[in-house]
Order: sequence, then structure tokens, then C-alpha cells
Amino acid sequence: MSGNEKMLITGGTPLEGEVRVSGGKNTSVAVIPATLLSDEPCVIENLPDIDDVHALVDILRSLGAEVDYVPGVHLRVDPRPAQGTYVGYQDASRLRASYYLIGALLGRCGRAEVAFPGGCRIGTRPIDQHLKGFQLLGARIEDKGGMILAEADQLTGTSIVFDVVTVGGTINVMLAACRAEGYTVIHNAAKEPHIVDLANFLNSMGAQVRGAGTDVIRITGRSRLHGTTYAVIPDQIETGTLMIAAAATHGNVVIRGCIPTHMESVTAKLLEMGVRVVESDDAITVRQAGPLRAVNVKTQVYPGFPTDLQQPISALLTIAHGRSNIEETIFENRFRHMDELVRMGARIMVSNRLAIIDGVEGLYGAPVTATDLRAGAALLVAGLMARGETEIYEPEYIDRGYEHIEDKLRALGANIRREKIRP
Ligand code: EPU
Repeated sequence: MSGNEKMLITGGTPLEGEVRVSGGKNTSVAVIPATLLSDEPCVIENLPDIDDVHALVDILRSLGAEVDYVPGVHLRVDPRPAQGTYVGYQDASRLRASYYLIGALLGRCGRAEVAFPGGCRIGTRPIDQHLKGFQLLGARIEDKGGMILAEADQLTGTSIVFDVVTVGGTINVMLAACRAEGYTVIHNAAKEPHIVDLANFLNSMGAQVRGAGTDVIRITGRSRLHGTTYAVIPDQIETGTLMIAAAATHGNVVIRGCIPTHMESVTAKLLEMGVRVVESDDAITVRQAGPLRAVNVKTQVYPGFPTDLQQPISALLTIAHGRSNIEETIFENRFRHMDELVRMGARIMVSNRLAIIDGVEGLYGAPVTATDLRAGAALLVAGLMARGETEIYEPEYIDRGYEHIEDKLRALGANIRREKIRP
């Protein structure tokens, strides 16, 4: 990505007030391709107005689906006219989740030709487990120079044991297995909230998916799925980012429309740091007045501490008293934001998957670059708490996953704006 904009933040203002969380990115990018499995129109609500959603809407249209998309209101997909099975490089490389088109198209019509996905460069990110799952369901897989061709005369239920816990692999196999003949069991499945949300969506179309949210998911395939209207769950990672931003600015923020039980590992970590976090049914209040304590963070699959919040919380830890160790166990290259934080005065040493952060009194504004979505979120947090002005280059990464983030932060009192960069 080489953007033509920069984001400008003058830090130091405590965030105060109320903010509403948007619909989940990682659930939306699974639910949208899943509409292709239906034999009738589906309406999806609460989708975030973000680039990943726009990219998928374009892809559904290119496949021939009839799509009515009103950002912030609904997405109506009539998959019946969709004849296409090909998603080329230019479309697929716009986002990681384009790989869900393989599972959805295989389930729908037994054929998918999809370019290798794009998405954030945070490691090698193989998809061997997805492909293994499709093969076990009876698909033939061919790697045709950057394109995956998956074909099956008939998908047949099977037993799949994932070698690693994979969110994308679990979702992709769920999609295909819904339309397979017979019974599929996925062992060592991922348990993230968006897996449960996708299962609820599929079940609302008449699928039979049981056990989502545990590590064994059982799916009875259906030859036909009906239409539905479904609202996706709130974004777990946006909620966590806002919690961290509130703490970082010594603010007082009520985050509404979230699911506090999805946030337990994050809430526990912030409490350990000395942040005040109060939960109610669908809101979390974060208030921070005193000094922050250093803590250790180890990323894990759900319900452990999410890798997607490792980057934002490491920005917060740069000003905590003492030494914090951050261990990234999910992706091998998710520390690229650390160099940028060092430009802003942070003291950080990185060795492979471990980062050691020694807290400093405060950060100062500097020009920095977002290297991926959550790196961008980390720089947002850092910019909000730094003295002076921070310029974030390539803020377009942030647009992939955070809906109207500048408006939301401005409403909480942040001094943030965007400018075009002159060529
Ligand atoms: N892995 C394999 N083989 C596979 C699949 C995964 O070895 O076939 C490995 C990966 O290399 C990684 C680990 O397993 O080391 C976990 O990968 P996973 O498949 O769970 O991640 P993903 O599906 O590529 C999704 C989210 C990520 C999020 C991770 C972990 C989407 C579109 N992406 O990625 O979200 O970090 O799960 O929770 O849902 C983000 O939102 O910023 C983001 C990167």
C-alpha cells in the first residue's frame, strides 16, 4: 500500500465521553461470503463501513450476485444469479478474507478459482490447513500460479483434525461443510467469537452447525439453505482498541454496544496494569487516573489475549512503570510497529517473537508509518498520548478495519485529522 494521505494527531488530551462500537470486521468478512451458500436473498445488518467490507461487496457483484449495499444500514445479497467462480488477483489481494470465497464457492457450486489472499503482512500466513480441510471433504486442489483451483463433484462430510488452531481454516471448512453431503466434525477448531457468530448466521439460514465456541464443531450438511436477516456482533478488537486508548490518555470513556464477556483477557490485563474497568451488560467504562504498571502479555488463541490487540497494548506499555515482556505466539512478524514506537521515544528491544519494553515518562510526536492494520491502531494510541504532533503515514491500513475512527475519537475530544499528501 502506498497511500496519499496522512493522519495528524496532537496528543495529550484525555478521551472523555461515550462511544459506540461498530459491527465486527472479522465476523463480517466471513458472513458476507457465506451469503453465497443460500438459495434465497439474505440481509446483513450492523456491518462496519470499512474497506474490507467494500472489497467483498465488489467481489460478490463481480461473481454476479445481486447486491444492494447501503453502508451503515444493510447489505442485501441475492446470490441466485451468481454464476461466477473466479476471483482474480486484483480483487483477492485487497483483503485476507478473500480466501473465504473458496469455501463459500465450493459449497455453493463445487468450484472455486481464487487468487492467493492479500491482507496484513504479519508473517508467512500459509493456508495449508484450509486446503487440507477441503481435500478431506473431497475437493481436488490445484495451485495454478498464484491461483487456487478447488473442484468437487460432491463434497462429503468427514472428520478433520487441524494441526494448528486456525480461525481462517475453521471458518472456511465450516462454509464448505454446510453444503456437503453428510456429517463433518472439525477437531481442534478455533473458538473466537466470530466463529460462533458465523455459526449463528449459518444456522439462521437453516444450516446445522453445533459446538461453535468449543474446539469440536459438528456440521450436518444441507442441500438447501434459506434466506435470513442477521445482525453481526460488535467488534471485539475495536472495543479493545478503544479501551486501550482511553487508558492511554488517562481518560474516562464509556464504550457502548460491546460484549464484555468477549473482552475478559483484555479487561484482566488492564486491571493488572492499574486501570479502572467497569462492565455492565453491553458497555465497558474505562477510567485511568494514576500511574500504569508494567505487565507481561502473551498472545494466545481465544479466550487468551488476542494477537490483534498485542500491537495497541504495546503502545500503552511504553509508558507503564517498569519492564513489560510481550510474547507474540500467533504470527512471526507482528512487531513492525515497535520501530515506529521507538521513533516516538519508546524504549523497546525486540528479539524474534519477544519484545521487551522499558517504560518511559512519555512519548513525543513524530512522523511514523502504519505497516499493517493493527500497527496503525498502535500508532493511533501512541499519537493520542504523545506530547506534540504525530503524523501517521499510510493511515489507509487503519481504514481496513476501523469504522470512522477519526470521527469517533474526535467526538471523545481527540485532536485528529487527515490531510492529503501533495505528490
Ligand atoms: N496457520 C497455518 N496454516 C493455515 C492457517 C493458519 O499454519 O492453514 C497459522 C498461521 O500462520 C498463524 C496461525 O496459524 O501462525 C493462526 O492463523 P489463523 O488462521 O488463525 O489466522 P487468520 O485466519 O490468517 C484471522 C484474522 C486475523 C487474526 C487471526 C488470529 C481474519 C480475516 N483475520 O487471521 O485478523 O489476527 O485470525 O486471531 O479474520 C486483523 O484483524 O488485524 C487480523 C490480522
